[in-house]
Amino acid sequence: MRREDLTAAESHFAFGDNWASYAERIAEPEIDEAVRGLSRLLGGERLDGKRVLDIGSGSGLHALASLRLGAREVVAVDLDADSVVTSRAVLDRHAPRGGWRVERLSVFDLAAAGLGDFDVVYSWGVLHHTGAMTRAIECAARAIGPGGLFVLALYRRVWMDWFWHLEKRWYANASPVGQRRARAAFVALFAIRLRVTGRNLAEYRRDYRRNRGMDFEHDVHDWLGGWPYESITASEVDALLTGLGCVPVRRFVRHGKLFGRDPGVFGTGCDEYVFRRPSDHPGRLPEGTS
Ligand SMILES: C[S@@+](CC[C@H](N)C(=O)[O-])C[C@H]1O[C@@H](n2cnc3c(N)ncnc32)[C@H](O)[C@@H]1O
Repeated sequence: MRREDLTAAESHFAFGDNWASYAERIAEPEIDEAVRGLSRLLGGERLDGKRVLDIGSGSGLHALASLRLGAREVVAVDLDADSVVTSRAVLDRHAPRGGWRVERLSVFDLAAAGLGDFDVVYSWGVLHHTGAMTRAIECAARAIGPGGLFVLALYRRVWMDWFWHLEKRWYANASPVGQRRARAAFVALFAIRLRVTGRNLAEYRRDYRRNRGMDFEHDVHDWLGGWPYESITASEVDALLTGLGCVPVRRFVRHGKLFGRDPGVFGTGCDEYVFRRPSDHPGRLPEGTS
């Protein structure tokens, strides 16, 4: 039997469908939250005059946030054709003065595309969905210019990763009815969990937008279906990126409660990392080993 190529768009969950539906909700409050989320990762600094690469732009909301923070040029790329159309539409609507472009491109083909170096390479919640996470991190890191930043968010490893592998592979290929039932079951169980810890679903949904301007319903679909799926620990991220010559700048990492890892009954979340490529680093970052 031939092994499925998980780096090919055809084997992926239909991320772009979900982003097209979410993008209809994007308005100034969502944009403000996205700007706040990005600014927090940048330690409060603006992006005036900078060239930014957004890998896996999804809805285009965070490419837009980079422009709002003063970026001179934003190049947004995504493998999914629907994400590309949506990112373009969102940027057309909210950044009509330009300074951006969106291309259908895989992280694995960045070097061949000749886009040049970037002051900031941003990839939030993407590289673990590419089918070859380590190679994707290496490919993304090679687009950082001297002195530039790599801002990335990756799924934290949890004990139940094995279950989420099975669930996501099933969900990504399930019928719309099957998917709807799975979402309803997930949300019902999640509501019980919130109740047990003294919270409630209505409040949780309302506050969810503070999470980078995102939306609970769309994120549940994205979480349950986000295939391919990988996860990584903070020490593995450190080893990989310092091995490529990058230095850690800041991070927002959650430490697990059960032998250093969360159980992951309701899934996992993204740990966020910022690395810098030193300006005296010679030439391009080295080729990876994978
Ligand atoms: C969970 S979404 C994250 C979107 C966005 N970065 C955000 O934070 O909202 C993951 C995105 O990565 C894209 N993606 C998956 N594999 C990719 C690849 N090899 N190259 C570029 N984008 C990819 C998907 O199409 C999807 O739009």
